[in-house]
Amino acid sequence: MPTYRAPRGTRDLLPDVRAAFARLEALARSLAVRYGYREMEVSLLEQTAVFERGIGEATDVVEKELFRLAPRSGEGETWALRPEATAGIARAYVQHGMQTWPQPVKLSVLGPMFRYDRPQAGRYRQFWQWDAEVIGDPGPAVDAEVIEMGLRFYLEAGVPDVQVLVNSIGDAACRPRYLDALRAYFGRHRASLPELELRRLETSPLRLLDSRDPDVAALVAGAPRIDELLCEACAAHFASVRAHLDALVVPYRVEPTLVRGLDYYGRTAFEYYRRGAEGQQQALGGGGRYDGLIELFGGRPTPAIGFALGLDRVVLALEEAGAGAAPQEPPLAIVVGADPADTVSRLRVASLLRAEGLPVRAELATRKLGRQLETASRDHAHFAVIIGDELADGHVQLKDLEAGTQRLVALAELARDLARAAKSHHHG
Ligand code: HAM
Repeated sequence: MPTYRAPRGTRDLLPDVRAAFARLEALARSLAVRYGYREMEVSLLEQTAVFERGIGEATDVVEKELFRLAPRSGEGETWALRPEATAGIARAYVQHGMQTWPQPVKLSVLGPMFRYDRPQAGRYRQFWQWDAEVIGDPGPAVDAEVIEMGLRFYLEAGVPDVQVLVNSIGDAACRPRYLDALRAYFGRHRASLPELELRRLETSPLRLLDSRDPDVAALVAGAPRIDELLCEACAAHFASVRAHLDALVVPYRVEPTLVRGLDYYGRTAFEYYRRGAEGQQQALGGGGRYDGLIELFGGRPTPAIGFALGLDRVVLALEEAGAGAAPQEPPLAIVVGADPADTVSRLRVASLLRAEGLPVRAELATRKLGRQLETASRDHAHFAVIIGDELADGHVQLKDLEAGTQRLVALAELARDLARAAKSHHHG
């Protein structure tokens, strides 16, 4: 066992896996462009109050999972690592006066998040999200657009059989009635509620609906359903979201117990799952509408909706399907030489080709030419550029390792020659 290891629940992404993440990031960026989002960054840390106010003090994420930084004496504020991006983005929207920009403002953030969760497969203390937010559009059409964009991500990433569970959790007009109904119901079952849930029964009874305690989960099955208590405006909004989803042929299912674990949501809430994996509390992604959050940070009332998709879980799903890791691309060419000691010439020629944008390796070990060519084949290089006496009059040998052929090429022509060969190789 090595003395030093990555902290529990955090992972080193080794190159093959990092490449799989990079592929997903490239896909997220491509979708962001297609759907009209602009990428931004928010700090990995925020004032703790941003999360306490934004996400809610009685949520698991804030109460149990926040990575709080040890306060420094003399500092008036405390910080925590971001457990998600939405609160920080809403804070930034207000701070930078984005309400004066043309609305809606569509923002995308890619990066690591931190939650002090109990680590297990698919649940880490540092994990990666693609987060997308539309701020300034009350919906309902945009709700369906956001939900559909998430599904397209899974489709194009190659994760089979993803469906979305959707619900409406009401707004300030009708939620109080629902919360009363929940308090009354769970109040009758106080005896079976653990300490934490008893406390939350008073402060935020919605949280009981996504409790991880198995006894509470059993009670949830008989709890009052929000769809029976939605006000007219929320019911109409939700009906229209569903009509738009139908029109887009989005595979969704209405799930009346879906409430999400963060306090800022109202109306539309949704989560993505592999079909058949809904019970495992391992959503691939989730999101919803948060029409009150901007105001909470001091902005004027501004409707908003967004999602975050967990990239770690997508990579896991792809690994299960045998398509997770992405091995290194072989170099187009390896520069080798007849004179083992002449690393200067090999490096110089490689540098020249790299400057032309070609992926080329220089053999810098001082072994015999035969051994240099062996490593070139081992690394699946398509070509070997062989430097010999011809270099004196500006020529090198270009050996096609796949075809087994070799010819003399002028150094001045080499980059163009290789680029052409690479192109015809890739296109068959
Ligand atoms: P969330 O449901 O807390 O929502 O997280 C979104 C996704 O992040 C989850 O579905 C999951 O894939 C991934 N995730 C969460 N925790 C972990 C973990 N410990 N390990 C691995 N993956 C994890 C949010 O974060 C909201 N900010 C989404 C949102 C954006 N709502 C509106 N806008």
